[in-house]
Amino acid sequence: MDLKELFDLSGKVAVVTGGAGGLGAVYAEALGDAGASVVIADLNVDAAKRTVDSLTDRGYTATATHVDVSSAESAAEMAATAIDAYEGIDILINNAAIMTNLPPYGLSNMPVAEWDRVVDVNLRGPLLCTQAVLESMTARGGGRIINGLSAGAFMPGGIYGVTKYALHGLTVNLASELGARGINVNAIAPGLVDNESGYVSLPKDSPFREALAAQIPGKTSGPPEDLVGTLLLLCSRAGDWINGQTISVDGGWIMRL
Ligand SMILES: NC(=O)c1ccc[n+]([C@@H]2O[C@H](COP(=O)([O-])OP(=O)(O)OC[C@H]3O[C@@H](n4cnc5c(N)ncnc54)[C@H](O)[C@@H]3O)[C@@H](O)[C@H]2O)c1
Repeated sequence: MDLKELFDLSGKVAVVTGGAGGLGAVYAEALGDAGASVVIADLNVDAAKRTVDSLTDRGYTATATHVDVSSAESAAEMAATAIDAYEGIDILINNAAIMTNLPPYGLSNMPVAEWDRVVDVNLRGPLLCTQAVLESMTARGGGRIINGLSAGAFMPGGIYGVTKYALHGLTVNLASELGARGINVNAIAPGLVDNESGYVSLPKDSPFREALAAQIPGKTSGPPEDLVGTLLLLCSRAGDWINGQTISVDGGWIMRL
């Protein structure tokens, strides 16, 4: 088997929610590099346009669109824009999330409006975006959905961790429902990422980082590029047989043995 063909995404159309963010932009570039046309969908449409400009400057095919993933109407518009531009959707990366602007409360005293604000984006968002792309993916004979989890799912990670743990449940359930349509649903759970949001959630000089280094058998943290191999595996022919999995990319921090 030709190794290049295994990971080739030529002719595929990928939608990346939160595609203007730190990880989303790196994911979009990797998908473009593998040959896909990429739709960068973000609440911050100006930042999405800037990301598209930097991709098209380098010869990739990319389009920006506004989306608020917590709105069914907006998710449907995102899907319609992708279909208008490239005739269909093969890959959805549910990457948008509230990660840094989290409510300053524990769960036991959290105002319900704050709970809803995070759950609506981090959990309802991936569900609504999945629903929005299904018809097109099914018409094209199948596809790939990758959910952006976090190591925070598998520890007491507050409201953020709760939404990411639930996203693991959504991944398993959607994989079970959609497998027969040729749609594989998987998730990537990164550990500490060396990017702006990663440093906001755990500052570089936090003493907790040193304590973590002692706990994590491999690398304590990694750049967004360390996630690209897993992303392309899950999006390509190489990942045909992988379904319903959450793959941790975290140096061995979370080992669910
Ligand atoms: N950075 C890390 O350390 C880290 C670690 C583990 C997991 N993750 C996960 O990776 C993903 C990306 O993280 P990042 O580091 O790129 O964060 P980021 O904050 O840079 O990017 C998030 C993007 O989502 C967009 N967004 C927020 N709300 C939205 C909405 N309602 N609709 C559409 N877009 C919206 C933002 O505009 C932003 O561009 C998230 O799911 C995050 O939970 C990140």
